[in-house]
Amino acid sequence: MKIRKSGGIILVSELDGKIVGTAGGYVVRPTSNVDGEHFGFIEFLIVDPSHRRLGIGEALLKELIMRLAFKGVNEICLEVDPKNEAAVKLYSKLGFATSYAVMQLTVNPSDVESKPYRPTLVASPKLQSRSFKD
Ligand SMILES: CC(C)(COP(=O)(O)OP(=O)(O)OC[C@H]1O[C@@H](n2cnc3c(N)ncnc32)[C@H](O)[C@@H]1OP(=O)(O)O)[C@@H](O)C(=O)NCCC(=O)NCCS
Repeated sequence: MKIRKSGGIILVSELDGKIVGTAGGYVVRPTSNVDGEHFGFIEFLIVDPSHRRLGIGEALLKELIMRLAFKGVNEICLEVDPKNEAAVKLYSKLGFATSYAVMQLTVNPSDVESKPYRPTLVASPKLQSRSFKD
């Protein structure tokens, strides 16, 4: 299904005329008239390192959630590295919970022989005769 990103929001937090934090998100909608994904997505949230632990990140995140909610979304998603303790704690504090995990495989073509993903079955002659192009 094709999706459309719309309703982009970028927030900045200013202190003494300097930007000390920013957050952004948007609404994801299906392009067709079918039931499907319709949710808010938080794209980024960052606070200047010398201004952290002052409540700026939390204030930006709350404002972003409110604005996405006013745009009609009833679910908001984001991606975060589970090792990013500050961010995970902040998101958890505001009620975010893990809904799915992204799995990752590092592939090294020169090292395939010893890897579990090395093909073990011989494909059918029909398949063998096909060549695959980049
Ligand atoms: C994550 C980040 C935005 C937090 O911003 P912040 O302004 O420092 O956070 P706040 O002061 O608003 O803290 C709010 C809550 O976040 C959590 N938190 C923030 N920093 C934390 C830290 N270093 N360790 C543990 N918890 C932390 C706490 O739950 C805190 O609530 P509390 O003060 O009641 O304990 C900031 O650390 C940052 O910019 N990190 C780098 C960019 C990044 O990782 N962005 C998220 C990408 S998904």
